[in-house]
Amino acid sequence: MTDTAASDHHAVLEVLERVAEQRRSSLRVDPERPVPPELVARLVRVAATAPNHKKTFPWRFRVVTGDARTALGEALAEDLIAAGEENPAKVAKARVKYRRAPVVLVAAAAAGTHEVMTEENRDAVAAAIQTLLLAATAAGLGSLWSTGAAARSPRVAELVGLDPADTVVGLVYLGWPVGAPDAAPRPEPDLQWVEAPAPPS
Ligand SMILES: Cc1cc2nc3c(=O)[nH]c(=O)nc-3n(C[C@H](O)[C@H](O)[C@H](O)COP(=O)(O)O)c2cc1C
Repeated sequence: MTDTAASDHHAVLEVLERVAEQRRSSLRVDPERPVPPELVARLVRVAATAPNHKKTFPWRFRVVTGDARTALGEALAEDLIAAGEENPAKVAKARVKYRRAPVVLVAAAAAGTHEVMTEENRDAVAAAIQTLLLAATAAGLGSLWSTGAAARSPRVAELVGLDPADTVVGLVYLGWPVGAPDAAPRPEPDLQWVEAPAPPS
């Protein structure tokens, strides 16, 4: 590799590090300021570059905006009630929670033809979501990956047109930031280099 190529790679790595460090889970976004549909579509195309064993392309993305966000909350609230939720405050909160951001992107994984494939499809969609979060950060958007009861809600899945066999991996809030997210220091990762075992004496 030439010196120029090496320094180009170094610069690209520095940009990626900066984007990854800047990405924070944050709902401090303007719920009224729209995100252009073409930007959302661009983020989804970046997401779909994630690695994917057996090339099953398992991602299912559903973009929820406007009043459909209320319908999404209503669907979740109905499933909470059906599941026996008795706290009215929790149900009321579910009804309006998706209005906190202009875009809620539901990311789901298709079932595989066997258990391991279903697991790996889910892994691929998780990788796609992180790729999307990084792209959203690079575009200046705030984001938050959520799951909770909504990820297992049949009414939510039906509303967004998913197959009952699909797995919702995340509901990603996207919007333009209105304040800096809190810093979230992370511990050093557990990293060890493995030595070859000593040959038997
Ligand atoms: C699979 C998954 C599910 C998550 N679900 C939620 C959620 O339901 N609500 C929420 O506030 N954050 C959720 N998060 C975000 C994490 O809480 C967040 O990543 C963590 O606090 C670290 O903060 P950071 O993303 O700013 O580094 C989820 C993250 C992942 C990976």
